[in-house]
Amino acid sequence: EKGGYEHFMLKEMYEQPKAVMDTFSPRIKGSQIEIEELGMTEEEIRKLRKIMIVACGSASHVGHTSKYILEGLARLPVEVDMASEFRYRNPILDEQTLVVVISQSGETADTLAALRQAKKMGARVLGIVNVVGSSIAREADNVMYTWAGPEIAVATTKAYSAQLTAMYLLAMKFGKARGLLREDELQEMLGSLKALPAQIEMILSNREKIQKFANRYLAARDIFFIGRGIDHAISMEGSLKLKEISYIHSEAYAAGELKHGTISLVEEGTLVAAVLTQKELYKKMISNMEEVRTRGAFVMAVTVEGNTEVEKAADYVIYIPETNKYFTNSLAIIPLQLFAYYIAVGRGCDVDKPRNLAKSVTVE
Ligand code: M6R
Repeated sequence: EKGGYEHFMLKEMYEQPKAVMDTFSPRIKGSQIEIEELGMTEEEIRKLRKIMIVACGSASHVGHTSKYILEGLARLPVEVDMASEFRYRNPILDEQTLVVVISQSGETADTLAALRQAKKMGARVLGIVNVVGSSIAREADNVMYTWAGPEIAVATTKAYSAQLTAMYLLAMKFGKARGLLREDELQEMLGSLKALPAQIEMILSNREKIQKFANRYLAARDIFFIGRGIDHAISMEGSLKLKEISYIHSEAYAAGELKHGTISLVEEGTLVAAVLTQKELYKKMISNMEEVRTRGAFVMAVTVEGNTEVEKAADYVIYIPETNKYFTNSLAIIPLQLFAYYIAVGRGCDVDKPRNLAKSVTVE
């Protein structure tokens, strides 16, 4: 059932090109994005005043990435909340708010409760769900399925990638409907979207290099992930992947925030993984990398091909292919997933079923 792979997680990482493709293909008709199941007219999309994204764990990291994309393309204010917080903070929403709940299982108790609360408050709820017919799929006003197929490993990989894809489609659709995304820009983005599966495949095929590198860090005590903007959101997911399956303590930090406290934890040899996919932030990031490096950190960078300047501030560089600036998460997360996986394997951890965790969290 693992199809020749050692773990479900590895198998599912390899299913990501297909999960991404299966999520966008049925929604691209001719050269336009059509999301029938959204159940909203362009007029209704234009009337929206706010989007709230509510989810847990990795799904909430998809939310953080989506905030930058939706705000960038559709100029709608986006709030992202963990479902377990949203429920208890008396959120401000109304009929002009679209609440997007993201869940692989469709059964996460806090996410489901948040959905019910949002509906009660009059908001329209869109579910981005992987499991067909699950509770969240049934109760949301509209459901956009991610077509990742069954995911077995506790650590999500392909469902996460499919969720990102669904959110890209939504953001482009909203940008277009609100008259902010030009037709030529949309066509260029669709071209980049269609190229993602092959690019992911390419990164996966380089796994041995990452395995070799990971093997040097099997005994690490702390690992820090830093990034700015979308790269901070990518860092959050890279950090969660690592800690949940390898049990190495890790933290994701907005790179500019490190010097306000956390940098005191950096010692000789501490691994800092820096994510740099946003051109306009390269310079700022490089100076943050230098900050930790002068304090003894070993800096690994994940960046886009061509950004060779990063080499002056990094000890090890992983290059990802170029894509649209809003889609970089889909590529940058792959080496981070592989890194987490190989560290966990090297440490002899139960990769598919890490301690204390369940695939679907049905307690509040
Ligand atoms: O099924 P859901 O997407 O609602 O699950 C949410 C989180 O429990 C889940 O993403 C969790 O963080 C994963 N184990 C992370 O790999």
